[in-house]
Amino acid sequence: MEHGNREVEPLQRINWQIFHIVWPYLMVHRRRVIFALGCLVLAKLANVVGPFVLKHIVDTLENAPDKLIAVPITLVFAYGFARFANVILGELRDTVFGRVTERAMRQIGLEIFEHLHALDLDFHLNRRTGGLSRDIERGTTGISFLMRFFVFNIVPTFIEILLVVGILFYNYGWGFAAVTLISVMTYVWFSVIATEWRTRFVREANIADSATNTRAVDSLLNFETVKYFNNEAFEARRYDQELQNWEIARRKNRLSLFSLNGGQALIVGVAMTLMLWMAAHRVSNGNMTLGDFVLINAFMIQLFLPLNFLGFVYREIKGSMANIEKMLGLLKVKPSVIDRDRAGELDCRSSTIEFQDVYFCYRTNREILSGVSFKIEAQEKVAIVGSSGAGKSTLVKLLFRFYDLDAGKILIGGTDISTVSKYSLRSAIGIVPQDTVLFNDNIFENVRYGRPGASDEEVSRAIRLAHLNDFIEQLPEGQRTMVGERGLKLSGGEKQRVAIARTILKNSPILVFDEATSALDSKSEQAILRALKEVAHGHTSMVIAHRLSTIIDADRIVVLDHGRVVEYGSHQQLLESKGHYATLWFAQQKEAVIKESPV
Ligand SMILES: Nc1ncnc2c1ncn2[C@@H]1O[C@H](COP(=O)(O)OP(=O)(O)OP(=O)(O)O)[C@@H](O)[C@H]1O
Ligand SMILES: [Mg+2]
Repeated sequence: MEHGNREVEPLQRINWQIFHIVWPYLMVHRRRVIFALGCLVLAKLANVVGPFVLKHIVDTLENAPDKLIAVPITLVFAYGFARFANVILGELRDTVFGRVTERAMRQIGLEIFEHLHALDLDFHLNRRTGGLSRDIERGTTGISFLMRFFVFNIVPTFIEILLVVGILFYNYGWGFAAVTLISVMTYVWFSVIATEWRTRFVREANIADSATNTRAVDSLLNFETVKYFNNEAFEARRYDQELQNWEIARRKNRLSLFSLNGGQALIVGVAMTLMLWMAAHRVSNGNMTLGDFVLINAFMIQLFLPLNFLGFVYREIKGSMANIEKMLGLLKVKPSVIDRDRAGELDCRSSTIEFQDVYFCYRTNREILSGVSFKIEAQEKVAIVGSSGAGKSTLVKLLFRFYDLDAGKILIGGTDISTVSKYSLRSAIGIVPQDTVLFNDNIFENVRYGRPGASDEEVSRAIRLAHLNDFIEQLPEGQRTMVGERGLKLSGGEKQRVAIARTILKNSPILVFDEATSALDSKSEQAILRALKEVAHGHTSMVIAHRLSTIIDADRIVVLDHGRVVEYGSHQQLLESKGHYATLWFAQQKEAVIKESPV
């Protein structure tokens, strides 16, 4: 019999590597495993003893129904106890072994999580996070399933079969043993074949299920857009289309399940009939007692009961193997930006930043930076300006070493950043990124994220410096207001201020602002710029800006265009040279004048 509806991948071979992975976890909890195996053996013994006791009860009752009532009663108790022992030992085994599987799941889950954080930005940009977490979840569940079922289901079931066949052979001759063995083999063979055949339908049903889900989620995520365009009916139609596919797939799946379960029932039925017919024949010949008849019946029922689950277990184990392999595949992905052997700590006493002839591309056929060179002296403020897509944010990503360069060097305090540990490099830089994403927590904790060890007073100070106070005071729940998923319940400007507060709290020698105030109105912007100026005092800072008026006080300005530095100098110098920057400046000035005097 089969239950559940998980996706199954074809598995050509057993991957022994998986057992290699599971083994150490079993070994760590050796005593528990041995105890659980002990329970298993005792439970199986109780299982085998049961039918024998039953036989004796029947025989005693048959031969002397009127005398010595005490004997069957003891036996009845013994039988009851055997059944109870069987069940309770099984429960005990699962309880004790549960700890082993849970510990393994915890450790493997943690290992994968850490590994994922060690991977490159690129890996994550190219992946669906939802899919990733599903892979992990399925993989760890798969490991637990494999540990439980392989050790406690498959192997013991086959041992029990052999035991019963042996007992039947010893007590009643080869006829019964042969029928049992052949029917079990037929049963297993049929289950495997039918399960393989059904896999296609199960997978179709799962795909339809996911597609339906994806459609619903995508549609609801776009709730606002659907309203803007009055497309509710359109959405419902598309959703119903998916539901229809799902319905069809489920029907096929159900029919195939019917064939599987029906076939299994037929095999069991035929085997039972045959055995009981043979037994009945012998009883009538006087070669067997009624007790023997009952014993054989009991053994048959006992044997086919765990077998009933075989199709299910087989499919689940196959699925688990595939899921585990997928998860292990994740572990095999190696990060490409790695610390060198014996990478030192970044010494940021002198926090100059220097880009030396940097070349970089994300994808081989499109160069983003072509020979960028400039230097920021310690405690200086340098602005980077340039059109959208010029590569400004890319410079920041390279400074953080999210990627390695194709050529050239980036130096901080004279040290090549690729020679120091990523950890020390990243602690030296504070950034307000272009798009701030927040954790689904409250405002206060989101700010504290800048330095998790910071005290409440320090967090409050950062909040004040980032001019978040006015906003927070308006909120009924104040700084404990939840920001929603990815911070979507805050406005763009509010999110930016949270990001600024975080960075203030981190208090690292180098500060990077990637359009840190782009989402603010001019008044808030001015206030924050003043605050940032105070904060940046004594720090080396790199400021990326579209609105040139925000960076005229910079010590130097780098004008980037199509991945090249086209101009370099102070605001005044650049204006005088009448190049790219000057054109941009006058265009923005004109715009500002027009804005201020509406027609
Ligand atoms: N992960 C990525 N993979 C491939 N291309 C990318 C990736 N990130 C950015 N790019 C491309 O690199 C170019 C430079 O991007 P970058 O984000 O540095 O621009 P920017 O100067 O910051 O622009 P903006 O002012 O709009 O923020 C863009 O054309 C962008 O499409
Ligand atoms: Mg950018």
